[in-house]
Amino acid sequence: MHEPVIQLNGVTKTYLAGKVEVPALRGIDLVVEAGECLAVMGRSGSGKSTLMNILGCLDQPSSGSYRLDGQEVNELDDDALSSFRGRTIGFVFQAFHLLRGVSVLQNVALPMDYQQVARREQHQRAADLLAKVGLGDRLLHRPNELSGGERQRVAIARALANRPRVLLADEPTGNLDSQAQARILDLFHRLHAETGVTLIMVTHDPAVARTAQRAVYISDGRVVEGNHAPAG
Ligand SMILES: Nc1ncnc2c1ncn2[C@@H]1O[C@H](COP(=O)(O)OP(=O)(O)O)[C@@H](O)[C@H]1O
Ligand SMILES: [Mg+2]
Repeated sequence: MHEPVIQLNGVTKTYLAGKVEVPALRGIDLVVEAGECLAVMGRSGSGKSTLMNILGCLDQPSSGSYRLDGQEVNELDDDALSSFRGRTIGFVFQAFHLLRGVSVLQNVALPMDYQQVARREQHQRAADLLAKVGLGDRLLHRPNELSGGERQRVAIARALANRPRVLLADEPTGNLDSQAQARILDLFHRLHAETGVTLIMVTHDPAVARTAQRAVYISDGRVVEGNHAPAG
C-alpha cells in the first residue's frame, strides 16, 4: 500500500516565551513522497526551523497530526520516539554540531551506537560513508582540524549513518563560502540520487531551491506556495 513518507495535517506550534505565546506554525498541511527532493524557503522568522525540528522529531507539534513513515509520531513515548527518530531521520544543521573531542570516524559511528549496531560494523560503515563524502583520508582527524566544508561533509555522513528514510538539512550551507556551498550542494544531490533518501533542505537561495524537484514557501507559519506533489 502506498503511503507518503511525510504527512502533516493542521500542524501548529506555539512557543511560550515567558508569558508571551509566540505562534510559530499556524496550521501546516504538507505531504512529501518517499524519495522526493524538497526545498523549504521563507524569510527569517517565518517558521522554517520550527517546521524542520518537528519533521525531525526534535520537537512536537502543539496540535495537529504528523505521520512519518507510517507512524503517528505523537503516539510514541519518549524512548520509542528517540529510537524511531534515530533510525528514520538524519539531520544536518547549519552549525555542524560535531563532537569536538573525538575523531571524525567516531562522530559518524556514534548514531549507530544508539541503534545497537555492532562496534566493528559501526566502524566499517562510518569509514565507507566518509569515503563516500570524500573524506576517506581524514578518518582520525578531529573536527577542528577540518575546514567548514569538510566538517559539513562529516555531519552529512553522520546523518546517513543509520540509513534514514528522510534526510533533513536546515540551511546546511549557511556557514560556508560560496565554493564550499556549491560542493556541499552537489554532494546532497549525489547522495539523494544514490541512496533514494527523501531530502528536505531549508535554503534562502532561490538558485539552490531550483535544484530541488519542488519548493514550498513558508510565510508567518503557513505554507503559502508550492504545497503540491510534483507532476508525474
Ligand atoms: N524556542 C523558542 N522560543 C520562543 N520563540 C521561538 C523559539 N524558536 C523560534 N521562535 C520564534 O518562532 C518564530 C519562527 O522561528 P524559526 O522557526 O526559527 O524561523 P526561521 O527558521 O524561518 O528563521 C520566530 O518568531 C521565532 O522568534
Ligand atoms: Mg531557521
